[in-house]
Amino acid sequence: MPPAASTISIDVDNIYYLILAVTSFFFFLVVFLLIYFIIKYRAKKPGEEGINFHGHMGLEIVWTIVPAVIFIIIAIYSAEILQKIDNVPADAMVINVTGEQFIWHFEYAADGVKSDKIMHVPLNKPIVLNIEAKDVIHSFWVPAFRIKQDALPHEQRETWFQARLTGEFPIRCAELCGPGHSQMLGTVIVETETQFAAWIQEEKEKANAQENALSDSAKRGLDVIQHQGCMGCHTIDGSKLVGPTWLGLYGKTETLDDGSQVKVDEAYILESIRDPNAKVVNAFPAIMPTFGPEKISDDQIKDVLEYIESLGTTKSK
Ligand code: CUA
Repeated sequence: MPPAASTISIDVDNIYYLILAVTSFFFFLVVFLLIYFIIKYRAKKPGEEGINFHGHMGLEIVWTIVPAVIFIIIAIYSAEILQKIDNVPADAMVINVTGEQFIWHFEYAADGVKSDKIMHVPLNKPIVLNIEAKDVIHSFWVPAFRIKQDALPHEQRETWFQARLTGEFPIRCAELCGPGHSQMLGTVIVETETQFAAWIQEEKEKANAQENALSDSAKRGLDVIQHQGCMGCHTIDGSKLVGPTWLGLYGKTETLDDGSQVKVDEAYILESIRDPNAKVVNAFPAIMPTFGPEKISDDQIKDVLEYIESLGTTKSK
């Protein structure tokens, strides 16, 4: 099992191990008795007839009452734990989580800071997550915290945790949500309260600096990109998702599936938005939806180009 990194995970593990112990004990008891009786009551000579049994009241009572008592104990114990899981502490810090094909977005409600894929949280503080989805059903799962909650379109669900260990813990999507489902990964970084506060501060400054560095047109382009959900498949930091990254994309020479090459310029990007499957870059799936003028106007495409250009240009030979 992954490390028990949240307060609730200890309770969840305890009941898991209790049920495992009880069921294992009875499994081996039944198998042992089965083998024992097979040997003991086998036909010793050919044609020998089996002994006829006529029930045993004492035995019947015992094997009804013992399991009933065990079930009641487990039911009470798990109801107590469920209660803890459902009881969100009133002073919990709020993080809004949005699942989108194929990325997790986080928004720290109190500070307005946003992050993708990586969620920072302070140690020993209750955190409540408001989870929803932008497109299809996803499921937010942090195995080390023993929490899993469906992310549904048009409906918010909540879950909470309190981290008890610092470190990095994987986030998974636990609902088959499309071709990039297996890449819908993330990380929770649990850090001390000071480290967390410093990170929030840094993100605030970074967001301001980025905002100021963009031209008005690029800012509008970024709005279009966020609105259309492009960053579910394309990154701006060089990492690879379902589609090519935009970092340094402009001016790059890409190889297509048929081995031919294309230089990424305005015309190619325009074509790839209007008719994505015309020239698909080698080793990427041809799954991008078409964005006609009713979704993105020509003017908006100019803004998008401006934004992509702002992410750096590669000089092709
Ligand atoms: Cu999102 Cu699987």
